[in-house]
Amino acid sequence: MIQTNIDLKPFNTFGISAIAKRFATFSSTEEITNILTNRDKDELLVLGGGSNLLLTQDFEGLVLKNEIRGYELISEDDDFVSVKVGAGEIWHEFVLMCIGKNLGGVENLSLIPGHVGASPMQNIGAYGVEIKDVFVSLEAYHIESGEVHTFDKAACKFGYRESVFKRSLKGQYIITSVTYQLTKKHAINSSYGAIEDELKKQLIENPTIKDISDAVIAIRSSKLPNPEEIGNAGSFFKNPVVDTTVLEQIQESHESVPNYPAPDNKVKLAAGWLIEQAGWKGKTLNNFGVHKKQALVLVNYDNCKGQEIFDLSTSIINDVKEKFGVTLEREVNII
Ligand code: FAD
Ligand code: EPU
Repeated sequence: MIQTNIDLKPFNTFGISAIAKRFATFSSTEEITNILTNRDKDELLVLGGGSNLLLTQDFEGLVLKNEIRGYELISEDDDFVSVKVGAGEIWHEFVLMCIGKNLGGVENLSLIPGHVGASPMQNIGAYGVEIKDVFVSLEAYHIESGEVHTFDKAACKFGYRESVFKRSLKGQYIITSVTYQLTKKHAINSSYGAIEDELKKQLIENPTIKDISDAVIAIRSSKLPNPEEIGNAGSFFKNPVVDTTVLEQIQESHESVPNYPAPDNKVKLAAGWLIEQAGWKGKTLNNFGVHKKQALVLVNYDNCKGQEIFDLSTSIINDVKEKFGVTLEREVNII
């Protein structure tokens, strides 16, 4: 059933109020076909958990909220289990299910908000792991033809917070399921500095996947705002990947600038550090601003407008560019 004039405030973690002209939920590909068969050819917005978007205005088209649930065991041997997961399942519930069954691979990605279906959109990542590391394939509904197409890892063209669905195939598909390969014999990944520190604090020497998950949850909870309390969409910008010459230039005035190796002889800088150095960390403007503990996160304290957050992000981009010569790119999808 298509509803009209629905406020999207409960459907985005920024807590921004914006009216969708038309709104429908679906829990199967057949339901997508039914909804789309009789629609006007208006703009579509596919919605998962709404944790990676900023609504800057009312949406004049049709919002389609994904509620495809369910798990299907695809294969199992002594080492691996492959499971196909409905795109509308909640990501962190999937992670907890894996840990409960002692299946490894996604424990470093604990507590990331949102749905399974969005996980390949930007190749979600945290604490040294990206979804591409456990990804096998996905099924997606081709909006134009109504066919369901399968994409393997190569076809998704994953990169840092990137996939083909954010680039050349943008707006063409609705992801309906994702298949992941999980381990029975685990490769524990505690290399990300903060995890080691957290494990030491808890006196854990040989961590299990549950220990890693608990450590990641503790670290995340200590610095990222809980969207149920403060509206936000996680990192608002990507960490910029730059030539080493840019790093060297910044090091002339800031010797200890955090930096990490990136492919093609480049380096990744920490956008949070650049924003903090530009003086924005913790700044509040009326009812929105930059988070006090993590400068990469923009926050809505109370009913601000999406356009206000967008304008704040433009000011931050301009200041960082002026101070360091580095152009920050927004990570959040702007609607
Ligand atoms: P939505 O916000 O609903 O959608 C995001 C985009 O994907 C939109 O363009 C939407 O149209 C499209 N989309 C969604 N579902 C589908 C589908 N089934 N088919 C086609 N298109 C679709 N991200 C990280 O990578 N790492 C982190 O550590 C991390 N931490 C976060 C912490 C907090 C507190 C918050 C609020 C966010 C964080 N995020 C992080 C960002 C966000 O959680 C992820 O990007 C998540 O995958 C978004 O899922 P979603 O279901 O909410 O997507
Ligand atoms: N930093 C500052 N000031 C700040 C924030 C960070 O100086 O206000 C410095 C930190 O001291 C550290 C470095 O920046 O040296 C990196 O900080 P952190 O480990 O907190 O991670 P991040 O680079 O800010 C990225 C992801 C997060 C992910 C974490 C953990 C991006 C854009 N963000 O943040 O993802 O959870 O690493 O892996 O890559 C998201 O995508 O929404 C997200 C939260």
